[in-house]
Amino acid sequence: MLSTIVLALLVSLTLYALKIYTQFARNLAAAKKSGIPYVIIPFYQLNRLYQLSQLFVVPIARKLPVSWTEIWFDLTLEWGWARRYEPFKRFGTDTFLTVSPERNQLYTADANVISQITTRKTDFPKPLEVYESIKIYGNNVVTSEGQVWRHHRKITSPPFSEKNNHLVWTETLEQCQAMVNGWFDGNTGKTESKTIYTLADDAMRLSLYVISRAGFGVRLQWPGTGGTHANGHVKNEEENNTSSVGNAQKHTMSYTDALGSLLHNILWVLIVPPFLLKHLPFQRTKESYTAFVEWGKYMNEMFQQKKATVLKGEEGDSMDLMVALVKGAGITKESSTGEKPPAQTLTDEEILGNAFVFILAGHETTANTLHFCLALLATNIAAQRHLQADLDEIFQGRPVNESEYEEVIPKLFASMAGAVLNEELRLLAPVVGVPKSTLKDSPQPLELGGKTCTVPADCYIAIITPAVHRNPNQWPTGPPANPQKPSHPLSNLDNDLEEFKPERWILDPDAKHAASMPDQEADTEASHLGVNTAADTSAALYRPPKGAYIPFSEGYRSCIGRRFAQVEILAVLALIFSLYSVELAVDAYASDEEVGKMNDQEKFEVWSKARDEVNRQMNEDMGAIITLQLRKGAIGLRFVKRGKERFNCNAR
Ligand code: HEM
Ligand SMILES: *[C@@H]1O[C@H](CO)[C@@H](O)[C@H](O)[C@H]1NC(C)=O
Ligand SMILES: *[C@@H]1O[C@H](CO)[C@@H](O)[C@H](O)[C@H]1NC(C)=O
Ligand SMILES: *[C@@H]1O[C@H](CO)[C@@H](O)[C@H](O)[C@H]1NC(C)=O
Repeated sequence: MLSTIVLALLVSLTLYALKIYTQFARNLAAAKKSGIPYVIIPFYQLNRLYQLSQLFVVPIARKLPVSWTEIWFDLTLEWGWARRYEPFKRFGTDTFLTVSPERNQLYTADANVISQITTRKTDFPKPLEVYESIKIYGNNVVTSEGQVWRHHRKITSPPFSEKNNHLVWTETLEQCQAMVNGWFDGNTGKTESKTIYTLADDAMRLSLYVISRAGFGVRLQWPGTGGTHANGHVKNEEENNTSSVGNAQKHTMSYTDALGSLLHNILWVLIVPPFLLKHLPFQRTKESYTAFVEWGKYMNEMFQQKKATVLKGEEGDSMDLMVALVKGAGITKESSTGEKPPAQTLTDEEILGNAFVFILAGHETTANTLHFCLALLATNIAAQRHLQADLDEIFQGRPVNESEYEEVIPKLFASMAGAVLNEELRLLAPVVGVPKSTLKDSPQPLELGGKTCTVPADCYIAIITPAVHRNPNQWPTGPPANPQKPSHPLSNLDNDLEEFKPERWILDPDAKHAASMPDQEADTEASHLGVNTAADTSAALYRPPKGAYIPFSEGYRSCIGRRFAQVEILAVLALIFSLYSVELAVDAYASDEEVGKMNDQEKFEVWSKARDEVNRQMNEDMGAIITLQLRKGAIGLRFVKRGKERFNCNAR
């Protein structure tokens, strides 16, 4: 009996080993034939077991001799963020394959390769299995490919118009003003705010409120601001039901809390199936489940309400996302002639799925960009002063919220404001690996350094954004600020690509006056899908070669909310820095009283300590789960009226 079991076990093990070996041999052969440099690693990066092993096995295995493990430890999970350009430099190639028994992978930081991959959308489709988990409310524009994707994209693109961007601008300014008032405890007469440690949360709230308004027509009110708005549906935090919705169900969480909690617990919600989530005995999972259900209810109510409005033909010219989804799905005004309405082309689930994915895609990304723009500007005083000088020239003393959007927005794009935005997204692009693939049985030719190579079939492709944006073969470089103290321990030690230097984008300081918007879309097939094939950045600024700067990805599957996000961030920069300066908090090193008595040299010393700590946080405490953000701690900042700065040391 026992011997039978042992035998069976041995046979299965042998068969398993044989299978692994055959797969490996096949993958290796494909890599050899490809003409692309390759390295062999034991695991496929997206294998769930391998990912779990990072928690338990890898820390132990790190104790093994370095020569055994060197290459594949360099390529552990999140290596794109942790190591950036360093592996590419060491391997001496901007594109390489990794071979493992399960699946081959291609990693690239090469602009030319990226251009090819992002333009040939049928040759290099999205690996849909990666997006499986964001279908929780239904299929959507992110989780689909081919004709289905085209259909979703076409329906979801109308709200991303200039008209709606104008709304993004006004709503951002209003909410941002409320945020600033909060920092000053409602007393903007004060010259200095307290030290703010809640910037990450504040930025999240701001971007959520803006997307709620511009995406869904729901206006949320900043906590602590009294009164009501003249138009829009106003809600405040405590409200448990959507007052805008006629058939409101009983809710156990406010809209903001539901969404906040959903996003906070998103990994649980994405990984654990709902029925399990509901019954797991943890506070966290219970809360995630409630948030998941509650937010679904809110979305559904909003959907039903918009549907009713559209059926009555009362939506006017409002074109928020929900209205666009309802209309795009074929729901139209009931015709008086009794004609049958066209069949609904998106299911109710798909409509909710898209609503969710827009919040998911647009919320954290924009919030983190805002958060880090402020933190980075606090570490680079010269750049901040340059930004303020540009804003003064653009606004000429007029309040930002009383200036013409059409007039100032192109100028902002072309000024230090645009440069700061571009540079922040170069350094800290929220999406650190843009996934693509080749299909089974479909190897693809690829031009690589002038010769034609072959990407193996069924290959997972990751475009490593942090490396692309720091590839010295594709970016003009200068010497590092301080060779003794490199900005990153491994990557780009001999140049300035790891540094926050918005000035690298400024070609002609006067160009902002004659600026037009970043290229507008020609009337192409792509433009009808809301695909922006135009450059990300203003023509007045430095234009990286195609494929070298991809914070919003490129080609057909590039970000639909690009301009939305850019306008929002430019509005925040304009509003804050036309009136205030942001300073690093030095509370950990000296009290306000001590700082008051310091001379310039002493101030510079405490300020430098604070700066070094922020730089450390930005290297070490960041994680790239879903989007790149600070995973622990907080960056402390203070806001002060312009002219009342405590630290003017020009630190570089
Ligand atoms: C700074 C802010 C943002 C950044 C850096 C960003 C970046 C990106 C990137 C890199 C992709 C491609 C992802 C992939 O291929 O897997 C993407 C796709 C997408 N983004 Fe954004 N995004 C931002 C803001 C927004 C906003 C505000 C919205 C909506 C309101 C949005 C909606 C989307 C959607 C729907 C897609 C999928 C498009 C498709 O597959 O056709 N994003 N974004
Ligand atoms: C909820 O909805 C009802 C009726 O629509 C409304 O009277 C009430 O003020 C709303 N808010 C709360 C917190 O119950
Ligand atoms: C909203 O619901 C929560 C949880 O049930 C409750 O504690 C709170 O008092 C409610 N707020 C209002 C205004 O009804
Ligand atoms: C601009 O902002 C100021 C300060 O919040 C406010 O008093 C003023 O009414 C705003 N103007 C417009 C046109 O919204």
